[in-house]
Amino acid sequence: MQPMLQVSDLHKSYGAGKASIPILHSIDFSIKRNEFIALMGPSGSGKSTLLNILGILDSYDAGEYWLDGILIKNLSEHQAAQYRNRFIGFVFQSFNLLPHLTAVENVALPLRYLGQSLSVRTNLAKSFLDQMGLNERFHHLPTELSGGQRQRVAIARALSTAPRLILADEPTGNLDSAASRDILDLFTTLHDAGTTIILVTHDEEVARRTKRIVRIRDGRLV
Ligand SMILES: Nc1ncnc2c1ncn2[C@@H]1O[C@H](COP(=O)(O)OP(=O)(O)OP(=O)(O)O)[C@@H](O)[C@H]1O
Ligand SMILES: [Mg+2]
Repeated sequence: MQPMLQVSDLHKSYGAGKASIPILHSIDFSIKRNEFIALMGPSGSGKSTLLNILGILDSYDAGEYWLDGILIKNLSEHQAAQYRNRFIGFVFQSFNLLPHLTAVENVALPLRYLGQSLSVRTNLAKSFLDQMGLNERFHHLPTELSGGQRQRVAIARALSTAPRLILADEPTGNLDSAASRDILDLFTTLHDAGTTIILVTHDEEVARRTKRIVRIRDGRLV
């Protein structure tokens, strides 16, 4: 069967010319449908860079990336954005919530891009926030929430479109152990339902809850 995603000889540098710093070196891997993977490695090893490329949020310099059989570099910017909205749920390391939108509005935003009506997306957003234990925080702005609550809003937002691929950068990094367990239980449920998940973590205990660990060091898979 076709892999969910496949990367071959992928290279990525930041900066141009002499100031260019190589970050990812010849990355090769393939992820099957419905895999649940932990991506681990030291700080600065390139985990977020790789995840951003897999989430079609960043470009790469050389190599190939196929997502669900589609060669990503052949997509126009508009096609890439559509594809990302329909297919991928992204939980960022820094949450990336919009500061002037409430919790409900942040979670409902990806549904707006999918053309859902205001009442449908508001109800869906509330039910996802409810699942995250945030039913009393619907109308709070991000600055009115704790770090862990912001993280949960970000996770609710990533899940709101029922994505087939979830890319999560340290999703439990700011949570206490009980809250992390809840998030991991939720990911396990999504995995059981067929979702493919790649989760970046520093925590071996979190990684043990996944089915396979991929390690990266200095921009190379080890
Ligand atoms: N926009 C950028 N411009 C220049 N260099 C960058 C940029 N983003 C990341 N880097 C560099 O790329 C390297 C990899 O960064 P990345 O964020 O992928 O690491 P990471 O493995 O996610 O680390 P952490 O565990 O601390 O989140 C680092 O050396 C970082 O300084
Ligand atoms: Mg990172």
